[in-house]
Amino acid sequence: MCGIVAYIGHQAAAPILLKGLERLEYRGYDSAGVALLEKGRIEIRKVKGRVADLKALMAQETWTAQLGIGHTRWATHGEPNQTNAHPHVNEDGSLVVVHNGIIENHAALKEELERRGHQFYSETDTEVLVHLIEEIQHQKRCSLAEAVRLALTEVVGAYAIVVFSSDEPETLVGARKGSPLVIGIGKNEYYFASDATPIVEYTKRVIYLDDGEVASIENGRLEIKTLDNQVQDPVIEELTISLEAIEKGGFEHFMLKEIYEQPEAILRAIRGRVRPAQNRVKLSGVWIYKDEIPHLQRLITVGCGTSWHAGLVGEYLIEDMARLPVEVEYGSEFRYRNPIIYSNDLVVAISQSGETADTLAAVKLAKEKGARVLGICNVVGSSIAREAHSGIYTHAGPEIGVASTKAFTTQLAALTMMGILMGQLRRQLTDEAVHQLLTELYRIPDKIRDILKLDNMIREIAGKYAHANNFLYLGRGYNFPVALEGALKLKEISYIHAEGYPAAEMKHGPIALIDENMPVVVIATNHKQFDKIVSNVQEVKSRGGKIISVVTENGRELRSLSDDYIEIPSTLDPLSPLLSIIPLQLLAYHIAVLRGCDVDKPRNLAKSVTVE
Ligand code: G6P
Repeated sequence: MCGIVAYIGHQAAAPILLKGLERLEYRGYDSAGVALLEKGRIEIRKVKGRVADLKALMAQETWTAQLGIGHTRWATHGEPNQTNAHPHVNEDGSLVVVHNGIIENHAALKEELERRGHQFYSETDTEVLVHLIEEIQHQKRCSLAEAVRLALTEVVGAYAIVVFSSDEPETLVGARKGSPLVIGIGKNEYYFASDATPIVEYTKRVIYLDDGEVASIENGRLEIKTLDNQVQDPVIEELTISLEAIEKGGFEHFMLKEIYEQPEAILRAIRGRVRPAQNRVKLSGVWIYKDEIPHLQRLITVGCGTSWHAGLVGEYLIEDMARLPVEVEYGSEFRYRNPIIYSNDLVVAISQSGETADTLAAVKLAKEKGARVLGICNVVGSSIAREAHSGIYTHAGPEIGVASTKAFTTQLAALTMMGILMGQLRRQLTDEAVHQLLTELYRIPDKIRDILKLDNMIREIAGKYAHANNFLYLGRGYNFPVALEGALKLKEISYIHAEGYPAAEMKHGPIALIDENMPVVVIATNHKQFDKIVSNVQEVKSRGGKIISVVTENGRELRSLSDDYIEIPSTLDPLSPLLSIIPLQLLAYHIAVLRGCDVDKPRNLAKSVTVE
């Protein structure tokens, strides 16, 4: 959601900004723009639509600027058009701002600024920032950096901003509260970006700005201050992601690449942590609570979207293996419904990006109430990872496709390891059960490789159903959350309406929808509920529904009832979601491609939802 990139240094800024915006496309956006300090004047170019359109527009001119800012906008206030696109500028064109987030008190600020004679041209909340900074600079006769700091003390809401002015051509200022901003440090040059993807090509040295900090680069010198004017000692960190990891590497789409990366990603998530020979799981983020875990009353997972589905699998895993009650919460509902949180609760925040606003707010709320918070995040150094008391990084590597794939399966791997360790600490698992689980966990990457070999066959199945307008996904037990996640994948990228349901619940409503036009995807790879799910499939079959089943070699009975079936390797029930989701990711992918959809950048969606 909204991407920011900015540059100040000795290189031409325009190509760096345009490349950076391309790298940020995955976050989701509907318009794009840049502002450059070109021969002492601020030049702005904006388009509704794609970065490619902006590139084409920019290609018509020659650019020499060595200072500039760029932005991809995901509309919140005001429709996605050229006027509302960022950067935003003051009346005389001397001050320019890009912003990610929401200024909640923008209406009150705007009223006051209009009273003072400022004229607004857009419907955005961001535009107030330009006028506010200008007004403060005018009144206090202070530097740009100081005006930004003072302006932000009046702002309520969430933001990451970057600002420059033609009156201070050697200055670039950035600030954050609630939305991410990273500073890249090159040789006599600096970058700002919403995440590290636009920076990694140029430097590995970064500073993750903290909430309430303002960073200014003035005449090649970086200074970071808090909003209350305290100078900070910045911590420079080394980026671990590589350039290859954020490129397509021969695949047609990032999503497909990321589906294929899952064996390696899961291996990275468990390597060094899972030790079958010693019957041990090593997770320092869980181990620090080893004395409390045996006495815990409850665990709460919070997350959104796919990460919420991972939390649901976590409920099944942890209740099953550690006999600990688990509540699964949406970040957005949790934070606004006066939840009961006890100081001895363990709250597990699950987030690929580590930046989802609702999950982050839930973490802060849980901390305020005295609970311990453990984060399961993919992005290193992200806000949730830093806000949580302890954590488990999933090590999936950068996930660029908007539809989450490898982030999900690595979250499941993390939750499985956590469930096993908690089961041991709470003395609920026998040594033999632990040994079986750990040994089998190590076999999962190879089993996923086997499933990936079915890709062509799954594409053929996709061809038969790509025209459908509705899909139903059914699963039981561990595969109920997989049904939800399979349906989510399909609707996100193919725009087909799809619903996931616990298979037995189908007869309490969705069964009314079933006819020969309704493909029903049945996930029946878990052993425990197999016979039950066969009965549910009979109910669909007798009403003319088309059945696509995901089965193991033991699922013969279901194969004969199915119009199409995908046979995948068998595993232990708690691990079955790690395998059964793979064919569903591929099915959704191929259907979306066949329908001509923009798989990596589906309409209206954002990868990292940094507004509530
Ligand atoms: C957005 C993405 C989803 C993701 C959800 C939660 O909606 O499009 O793919 O599952 O946010 O994101 P997180 O980064 O917190 O896992």
